[in-house]
Amino acid sequence: MSGERRLFVLNGPNLNLLGRREPEIYGRATLTDVEQICRAEAEAAGLELIFGQSNAEHALIEWIHEAFEGAAGIVINPAAFTHGSHAIHDALKACACPIIEVHISNPQARPEAWRAISLIGPVATGTISGLGVEGYRLAIRAIARLAPARTAKMADAA
Ligand code: DQA
Repeated sequence: MSGERRLFVLNGPNLNLLGRREPEIYGRATLTDVEQICRAEAEAAGLELIFGQSNAEHALIEWIHEAFEGAAGIVINPAAFTHGSHAIHDALKACACPIIEVHISNPQARPEAWRAISLIGPVATGTISGLGVEGYRLAIRAIARLAPARTAKMADAA
């Protein structure tokens, strides 16, 4: 499969606890459930899935650097790094591919004022939040629609 078909789905800190962590906010689906949803959706779209989760900022940045080299797209739930990571903002900003920011909850609707600020939104193509783990499925569909446009644009420029 060519590099242009690689889709990165990246998950930030504490999402390894999905299903057990604050289920009244994040639901009962586990990260394994999310990966299965993403695998099915990526396969349907003809995309090669690279699925990752890390509690470490640098690991997420390493994956973004891999995606920098011509990936079809990035779906990222940066979790709490959303609200504080300039480094992830910069890494994503460098990427030419479509980027969809996903949040399981709707951070804007939550009581903590700091959650309303996303450092990732300004460098994302779009954001999906508050739709539970369904947001990942929708994000992959969006990438599948957006990625061919990018490939065509690149061909025009060549
Ligand atoms: C989250 C929302 C963030 O505010 C929070 O820090 C998370 C998860 C979400 O998916 O709703 O860890 O990104």
